[in-house]
Formats: sequence, structure tokens, C-alpha cells
Amino acid sequence: MKLSETLLPKFNAQITLEFASSMAYRQLAIEMDVQDLPGMALWLRHQADEEIVHANKFIDHVVDRGNHPSIGVVDAPNVTVGASPAEVFEAALRHEQTVSESIRDLYRASDQEGDLDSRPLLNWFVEEQIEEEATVSEILSRIRLVGDDGPGLLRLDAELGQRPTSSTEG
Ligand code: FEO
Repeated sequence: MKLSETLLPKFNAQITLEFASSMAYRQLAIEMDVQDLPGMALWLRHQADEEIVHANKFIDHVVDRGNHPSIGVVDAPNVTVGASPAEVFEAALRHEQTVSESIRDLYRASDQEGDLDSRPLLNWFVEEQIEEEATVSEILSRIRLVGDDGPGLLRLDAELGQRPTSSTEG
């Protein structure tokens, strides 16, 4: 069943937001790379790839239902240049919270339209957002625990650099 005329623009907006998320993580990765924290930079770049996977999931869903998805304007990432590791992961957490709320809005709108076909996809995203917020939140807590301890920060950086390579195909 096709998405309704009301839902299609909302799905397109979510696709655009996932691409914007990818760009935001790319910029956050750059912030860590220029501060010689390659593990954090790598972790954030992998996350940027995962956001492309998210965008692709929505695109596939919209196409599979016989609609024509279109990507909107992706604004430049709103990231403070020279942000500290804590500020970088705070920005990531804020961003994930925005995405979570957007998924909830999409869920509510789909429910209102009685659109049962999107429910499995949206359920997957609700779970995914819980996990993403928890992961970023844990990293942020550990960065705060480490504080000004240089060797501690380098250990955490090395650990985050172990994140397996991601694929934009999921
Ligand atoms: Fe696609 Fe990190 O939300």
C-alpha cells in the first residue's frame, strides 16, 4: 500500500534528517581528528556511515511501497569548531535526541493515518534510537569521568578506535 500524501513528505523529511545526521557525524569526526584523537574520529566516521544505512532503510521502504522518495536540502552541520571531546559527544547526544523525537513524530503520524505497513520499520527505528542514545551517553559519561587525565583519554580513544568497520549498505 502506498504512503498517503500526508505521510510521504514526512518520510522524505526523515530521509533528509538521516543524511544530515551523517554530515553532522562527519564534522564531529573532523573535530576529533584535528585534535589528534584518531579513535574517536574513527568511531564518529563509522557512525556517519551508519546514518547512511538509516537513510537507505527509509528510501527502500518508500520505494517498495510504490512512492517516489526525494532527498531535501541538507544544511551544513551545526558543530562548534574546536569543541572538546565532551562537547563533541554532547552534540552527538543532542542530535540523537532530536532524531528520536522525529521518529516518534513519524510513528504518531503513521498511527493517525492507520498506516500499519510502516510499523515494523518504525519499531526497528524506535529500538535503534534507544540503543544509539545509550551508546553515545555512555561514551560521554566515560569522557567526563576521565576529565583532564591525558593517559585515560588516550586509552578511551584507543578503545573507541576498535569499532568495527561499517558499511553504508547495512
Ligand atoms: Fe539515524 Fe543516529 O540516528
